[in-house]
Amino acid sequence: MDPDAIARTYRRWAPVYDATFGAVTRPGRRAATAHANRQGGHVLEVGVGTGLALRHYRPDVKVTGIDFSDDMLRLAREKVTEKGLTNVADLRQMDARDLDFPDDSFDTVVAMYLISVVPEPRRVLAEMARVCKPGGEIVIVNHFAAEGGALGRVEALLGPFADRMGWHADFEIGTVLGSDRVREIERRTLPPLGLFTFLRLRPRPAAQQAA
Ligand SMILES: C[S@@+](CC[C@H](N)C(=O)[O-])C[C@H]1O[C@@H](n2cnc3c(N)ncnc32)[C@H](O)[C@@H]1O
Repeated sequence: MDPDAIARTYRRWAPVYDATFGAVTRPGRRAATAHANRQGGHVLEVGVGTGLALRHYRPDVKVTGIDFSDDMLRLAREKVTEKGLTNVADLRQMDARDLDFPDDSFDTVVAMYLISVVPEPRRVLAEMARVCKPGGEIVIVNHFAAEGGALGRVEALLGPFADRMGWHADFEIGTVLGSDRVREIERRTLPPLGLFTFLRLRPRPAAQQAA
């Protein structure tokens, strides 16, 4: 999706997001925040959206969130104020392809339901790895394309509608796992119906990355 399409699509999604896609994807948000809470320190949530996950971070875990869509971010800011989430340090409009943070800034970098939405997923992954501290973790929750079967055929049919829906239904996990910027440390499926995948990754030291 190009940046204009993202802004347009998520302007339409913002008012109904929490009650629709936001509701069915709750288990992934709980799994990712539970893991970030175990890690502690400073979390970066990339594509924070309407801020549905923010209240699940422990109060002593500092959270910074970024999102491309001002419409989604406005709702996230409202939640922070309404729920008095003083651990949310900052919510900023930013393109995940160009994170405006120094290298090695965060203990955990989380991206829930983002990686199949962004225009250049490998570049986003590289940015997430860059801002993650050595020894820190990257947590990704997403739907990845099924290998064949009825679901695979439905996803292939939905492929051309990515701009209207706001994500690529046929996004392949290899796009993430094939990156030389990260290595996999855990993978499991999540409800509903195992449709979503929880991935824990570590940034690779620069010496192990291809030039
Ligand atoms: C499906 S929503 C997920 C929101 C949130 N993570 C959640 O769990 O509900 C995808 C989010 O990614 C954001 N997004 C898409 N492309 C982006 C980009 N290049 N940079 C930052 N955010 C982006 C959208 O604006 C939207 O808020």
